[in-house]
Amino acid sequence: MSDSINKKVEKLIAGMSLREKIGQLNQPETPTADNLEEFKAAVAKGEIGSILMSVGATAGNDAQGEISVDFYNEIQRLAVEKSPSGIPILFGRDVIHGHRTVFPIPLAMAASFDPELVSQSYRDTAVEAANDGIHWTFTPMLDLCHDPRWGRIIEGPGEDPYVGVCMAKAIVKGLQNADLSDEETLLACAKHYIGYGASEGGRDYHRAEISDYTLYNYYLPAFKAAVDAGALTVMSSFNDISGQPITSSKKYLTDILRDKLGFKGFVVSDYDAVCQLIKQGVAENNEQCAAAAVNAGLDMDMHDKCYIDNLEKAVKSGAVSEDVIDEAVRRILTVKFAAGLFDHPYAEKKNIDRGEHLVHARQMAAESMVLLKNNGVLPLDKAQKIALIGPFVHERRSLLGSWTIDGKAEETPNLAERMKEASGNVYVINTNPLAWDSTNKNIAAADVVVLALGESWTATGESRAVSDITISADQKALIRKAKTYGKKTVGVIFCGRPIAMEDIAEDLDAVLYAWHSGSEAAGAVTDILFGAVAPSGRLPVTLPRKATHIPLYYNVTPSGRPVDCYYGENPGNCYVDSMPTPYYPFGYGITYTEFEYSAPVSDKSRISLSDLKGGDTVQVGVTVKNTGDVDAKETVQLYIRDEVASMMRPIRELKGFKKVLIPKGKSAKVTFDLTYADLGFYDAGGDYRVEKGKIGVFIGKNCLTQNRTEIEII
Ligand code: BGC
Repeated sequence: MSDSINKKVEKLIAGMSLREKIGQLNQPETPTADNLEEFKAAVAKGEIGSILMSVGATAGNDAQGEISVDFYNEIQRLAVEKSPSGIPILFGRDVIHGHRTVFPIPLAMAASFDPELVSQSYRDTAVEAANDGIHWTFTPMLDLCHDPRWGRIIEGPGEDPYVGVCMAKAIVKGLQNADLSDEETLLACAKHYIGYGASEGGRDYHRAEISDYTLYNYYLPAFKAAVDAGALTVMSSFNDISGQPITSSKKYLTDILRDKLGFKGFVVSDYDAVCQLIKQGVAENNEQCAAAAVNAGLDMDMHDKCYIDNLEKAVKSGAVSEDVIDEAVRRILTVKFAAGLFDHPYAEKKNIDRGEHLVHARQMAAESMVLLKNNGVLPLDKAQKIALIGPFVHERRSLLGSWTIDGKAEETPNLAERMKEASGNVYVINTNPLAWDSTNKNIAAADVVVLALGESWTATGESRAVSDITISADQKALIRKAKTYGKKTVGVIFCGRPIAMEDIAEDLDAVLYAWHSGSEAAGAVTDILFGAVAPSGRLPVTLPRKATHIPLYYNVTPSGRPVDCYYGENPGNCYVDSMPTPYYPFGYGITYTEFEYSAPVSDKSRISLSDLKGGDTVQVGVTVKNTGDVDAKETVQLYIRDEVASMMRPIRELKGFKKVLIPKGKSAKVTFDLTYADLGFYDAGGDYRVEKGKIGVFIGKNCLTQNRTEIEII
């Protein structure tokens, strides 16, 4: 940070009482009528550093009141004008994938493989949220996850570290823009640090077991990318890793986050996590919880008041040194200055025209949806008679997805509305699958049946793990029934997680994986079904056959027998009763044309380790031809395989992708520059290394591509 900020921070700290300092570390949630007066008194005494602008432990599951800018301005005035040091309060809210305009769930945005569009979505989001007086949002959520039972898989980037890195950069850039002190920005918060997505069995809040080798190579890169992109806050996660709660772990919060990743901002706890150290069995009372967390490097305490109620005592007893408190205050004040909070503490609400944001939301949603199957039925012709059936035909709220605390279901067009707007030949039959009457004359007259299927948003999000990852039995029955009718049938699946595709995809002629895609989800489905947009999403997660095949992710290490086990080129049997090959692999997605790939060509077959380290690169490229008669985008993906290394390396690692629009009949040359940073890995001590030897380089449509060349590091 600049010297001038440092000076201002030190001057403030020098004049603060211990109580006020601890106040800066305190983040209660929005007061209710019952505690309002007490709350205001605490603000005036300088005992509140930040406010979580929502109510409840799982804010993403509950409707939250609309933000009253006047109310928060009034609270801010108390802090600035009445509190002893006049330090403004930092207002934080979960603005996870959009504000009033809702963009697709982050997992879906990852499927767009279009970081620029993701940045644009978060730019629009920041403009809307900042206009409501929000300074800080608890996103990006960067928890890699291999277990789709976990409800929070919707919030993250999926199963791949490189996609995680790209999403981290894109989201931080969109939120913070070029100048964080600008009023139309939001402070980003990389969460949940670390290993939350590895909670055993997908059971929310539970333990994780992650070796340091795996941590450095899978779980940390996205957080490192967020830090490098300028994220100044990090939220610690609820889980423990191998018996160490992150909330009180110096190893994770200081040694790794600060010393290895170079994080300079402040760490906020997750909701009530500090006092939960008692339940986790590492502290006896709240004073011990507070001391353990702050000593580990956790700067701000969310909601449970554990710091404000206990840290003075802990300083007096010697359990915590005042220097530790000063350091936490220093970090928080530095971020407040960097965010421009001292220059513009109050919000001035303007009327925002969201028209353009909604256009972007429709575009983002369309780019996120993944066409999984198409037996020639799509795109639909507007002259065709379409029977629109299924439980999601009239659905609005689920289209928005979980963690949508400011979006409004009643403002969200449903599929029936958007489809009918596009064509006069759409007939809504019945939304109740069991009551579907196949003698209905509109079905008899239909050329195509479109089934709107999926899972409710209430099966996703925080504290909402499921034990099966499929659509309901009723919906499967509906698919079977539709088949007996002898029509071409298209399934549109609105969902928040990888769904086990067995018994779903086989009986449909086309399948569009539409996710929970936000305010304009229905518009985007309509655009794709009628061919106004050629689908271009690719899976950022594997879709398994059955739930019992999870965990199933592409970047596994090889096993000795059979060579590549279930996900590589030589699938072998892991189970005697079924083969756990992916139903649809990572990176998969099709569109309304075909692309033909040339063999990859590299500009050199060998490179010395020292040249690579010195900044030389290896360029590898392919020519991709659009052989069909529709202009469409292809996501060209580059994977590597380090064939022989001192540690086992994954059978494929994504190291680059480019989404390119290729007009019909045309070709595009797509190249990637492989750098030192792409070709190595971390050892268990967190040190990065590139080893000599051969690296297989694959460029193709998804992670199963065999389109290979080889380079050698000498
Ligand atoms: C969640 C966080 C969220 C926080 C504040 C917690 O329960 O785990 O992701 O930011 O609540 O709402």
